[in-house]
Amino acid sequence: MQKLKYALVGCGRVSPNHKNAYLANSDALELVGICDLDYDKAKALFCDIQAEIYTDYKKMISEQKPQVVAVATDSGSHFEVAMYAILNGCHVIVEKPITLSVKEALELNETAKKQGVIIVMCHQNRFNKPIQLMRKALEEGRFGKLLHGTIQVRWHRDKNYYSQADWRGTWDKDGGTLMNQCIHGIDLLRWMMGDEIDEIFAFTDRLNHDYIEAEDLGLALIRFKNGAYGVVEGTVNCYERDMEETLCVFGEKGMAKVGGRSVNLLQDWCFADKNEDTDSLKTQVDESPENVYGNGHKAVYRDAVSAIINGTQPYIDGMAGLRALETVLAIYRSAATGKPVKLPLDSCDCSEFKGRFDNK
Ligand SMILES: NC(=O)c1ccc[n+]([C@@H]2O[C@H](COP(=O)([O-])OP(=O)(O)OC[C@H]3O[C@@H](n4cnc5c(N)ncnc54)[C@H](O)[C@@H]3O)[C@@H](O)[C@H]2O)c1
Repeated sequence: MQKLKYALVGCGRVSPNHKNAYLANSDALELVGICDLDYDKAKALFCDIQAEIYTDYKKMISEQKPQVVAVATDSGSHFEVAMYAILNGCHVIVEKPITLSVKEALELNETAKKQGVIIVMCHQNRFNKPIQLMRKALEEGRFGKLLHGTIQVRWHRDKNYYSQADWRGTWDKDGGTLMNQCIHGIDLLRWMMGDEIDEIFAFTDRLNHDYIEAEDLGLALIRFKNGAYGVVEGTVNCYERDMEETLCVFGEKGMAKVGGRSVNLLQDWCFADKNEDTDSLKTQVDESPENVYGNGHKAVYRDAVSAIINGTQPYIDGMAGLRALETVLAIYRSAATGKPVKLPLDSCDCSEFKGRFDNK
């Protein structure tokens, strides 16, 4: 089988996960280029692998003609880079959030469809083994009627983290903790609870990080179209260290809890149809990844390769990226207006919330 030509744009914090995902799939991918505005960063990341290094992604795409481009630049530039790649006929693997605006996310999805290429989203926690177990139970109908679900992302990020790059915590290029850290959990909650949201009511605030523009705490209530409810609690205000990222789903005939630092440990499992031993399930699914990004990028890449080769839809597509983004933006809009917000949103852009906490 001929390998797919692959290139990476953005060689920062998350890029080692992309490198490892490429290495794990190098039977199907041929690395033709890596790009960062900072040449030395790109060189340092791939010092052990032969790769053409670029500081201009347009030049890289035109010279190397990759078939797959991974976009791991700051969130504010995903749209520009992904759109350019798509318009040049490349499939894209995009870091979360897909973009920072609903209109841009819709445009990316529409353009990819027209171009006959796919968007694969890095909401990689969907591939965590305990999450896959929960999803299987859901797809088998074991929860019965869904009643409510909760996501709690209780993490710690300090000045040291935010000072690593000037885009962090800004409305134009990042958003706050919900858009950056919690979007994975918000994606999982929406995906598990039926995907279709009717209404959201929320509070957000910046309580403990006066050196960033956006929120460090978000609290939201969601009503899903299927009649179930959701609760979101996301913060980077935990003292000293990350506490947990925990997802619970409660149904008429079962309940499950996946927690740990980033939804990698099965913590509760109880269903009417089968009496299973949680401890023995734990030995099959619990994971202990090196960091909160988890091991899922490898599976995201594997799925991308399979979707491209077989002409199928990816497991986590661009519309999933749009839904996670839309949920965060609806939370922002509700918190800013003090009113419930109905979905879907036709338009909403993170930069609309600029100045929200300036007078605090
Ligand atoms: N999936 C996850 O778990 C996960 C984890 C961390 C970060 N992320 C996402 O990944 C993205 C990158 O985050 P990070 O923490 O690695 O950021 P970072 O600031 O550490 O790295 C971003 C890199 O992109 C480069 N860059 C920016 N614009 C570019 C351009 N036009 N051409 C080439 N290079 C360009 C920068 O020079 C920088 O080296 C963000 O969108 C973030 O939300 C996802």
